[in-house]
Amino acid sequence: MLPCRRSTALTLAAALAASTIAAPALAQSRANDAGTPSLTIKAAKAQHRAVSFATTLPPAGGTLVLPLTTEADLASRASALSEAERGAIARALTAAEFDYEAQGALSLRGIGGWDRIHVVSTGKDMSPAALQKLGVMAGRALMKDKGSITVLASGLSAEASAEIATGMGIGEYRSDLYNAKARDAAAMAGTTIVSDAADGARGLYEGRGKALVEGMAFARDLSNEPANVIYPESFVERTRAAFAGVSGVTIEALDVPAMERLGMGSILGSGRGSARPPRMLIVRYTGRGAPSAGPVVLAGKGITFDSGGISIKNSGGMGDMKFDMSGAASVVGAVLALSKSRAPVDVVAIAALSENMPDGNAARPADVLQAMNGMTIEIISTDAEGRLVLADAVAYADAKLNPAAIVDMATLTGSIMTALGDDYAGLFSRHEPLARQLLQAGDASGDLLWQMPLHPSYAEDTKSTIADIKNSGASGAGAGAGAHFIGAFVKPETPWAHIDIAGMAWGGANDLKPAGSSGYGVRLLEAFVRNFQPVPKVAASD
Ligand code: BES
Ligand code: ZN
Ligand code: MN
Repeated sequence: MLPCRRSTALTLAAALAASTIAAPALAQSRANDAGTPSLTIKAAKAQHRAVSFATTLPPAGGTLVLPLTTEADLASRASALSEAERGAIARALTAAEFDYEAQGALSLRGIGGWDRIHVVSTGKDMSPAALQKLGVMAGRALMKDKGSITVLASGLSAEASAEIATGMGIGEYRSDLYNAKARDAAAMAGTTIVSDAADGARGLYEGRGKALVEGMAFARDLSNEPANVIYPESFVERTRAAFAGVSGVTIEALDVPAMERLGMGSILGSGRGSARPPRMLIVRYTGRGAPSAGPVVLAGKGITFDSGGISIKNSGGMGDMKFDMSGAASVVGAVLALSKSRAPVDVVAIAALSENMPDGNAARPADVLQAMNGMTIEIISTDAEGRLVLADAVAYADAKLNPAAIVDMATLTGSIMTALGDDYAGLFSRHEPLARQLLQAGDASGDLLWQMPLHPSYAEDTKSTIADIKNSGASGAGAGAGAHFIGAFVKPETPWAHIDIAGMAWGGANDLKPAGSSGYGVRLLEAFVRNFQPVPKVAASD
């Protein structure tokens, strides 16, 4: 079976070499037929503990989570425990010199009927983001606990209780998608949040938090999946499956002929070296009561694998480039969260999906492409491909969707990692009122942003001698040049911002996440769109 398929592919490839220029659309669809994997492997489904809310403490058993801000909290927070249990906890906290600073934790065993009592300290920062983070840490720390989990949130507000529950669901995410043994061993008994404001907390969690947990898991699964599983077409299929049954949602996927008709030569050029053809995926959610001034458009870089193309990358660490569709995953994940929580917003996620591969048919340095808005692009490096796919995504949004604002999100440059590390994503915008709303959403969600400049020199740096613009700048400001390039495909008056998440999207395991995707951007964009206020459409230049 397999050798036969291979020879078919080879014959096709030879035939295509001649027909490529005349009929690239045909070439790409045929090459993909030949390259469709005959052996599909199945990843485990994302899961988190079922959450319920109660006003009274269930019988002792499993793990008890006890959030404390100060020593004095114990009496009220744990008033439902016996005096003997409270006494034992107090002695243990003193003996361990528990300091009640943010992100502190102490696990106690052998008290009352509990398998363990996990004391977590909130610190003084009781903001929603801080409480959610506390929940993330607790959820992750208790991954291996077999029994049920009870969170003693007495005295905390409904909002605080819901944030802790949401965080726990996010913290329970696993990235070992293909380790069936590890996943089967995972215990997923339920979580009960004990709160005086149980009804309010349940409403907030069911109305928003749970959808965020699902949007995060969706985005992280897509990023963690290898590129033999997630490629443009399978990204589209996964998206359709995730939105199945959610009302108010329309999904459209532009294939190669559709993109050719629209003149999207930039994204098509980026995907020419791959056997898997590009797609422009457009997911729109219009909630009941949404404003009618045009949607907020979120455009994500969706390079399902970035080998660099003809400007090929070094082999060391190249596998990490399966994550290069994280911007696309996050914009779709944010819309999934907003739609599942029935938010009263009008929002579009555009995933600009393409695989950047070297091949006889691939674009070369010095090739010239033409984007949907008519602008011509000289390719300096085929490794600066994210801006190529986003050029057509933002031009499409601007021409077809009457956007109230366009925000693009991309793992665009190594340069932003040098500047901001893994503490902040880089924010670039010509529209200050839009930038301010994004910065605010960053603080509220915990997905932090740092604003970077759009200096006029970037326009000089990206001037081409043969075309309207070139895809890589001359100066050292690599992240800025990339931002400027994308902005060149948006009308000056359209409120636009670019977020470079190259340093944020991926990393090793720590107290907050397993190895792989961080899901950065889902919570940021969800918060941003939920609170979006229209900004003036005035021409601005960078
Ligand atoms: N996907 C990369 C950016 C990247 C690099 C993310 C390393 C995370 C870690 C992007 O497509 C890329 O290759 N960018 C080049 C741009 C350059 C050729 C102008 C870069 O940053 O070096
Ligand atoms: Zn890339
Ligand atoms: Mn690249």
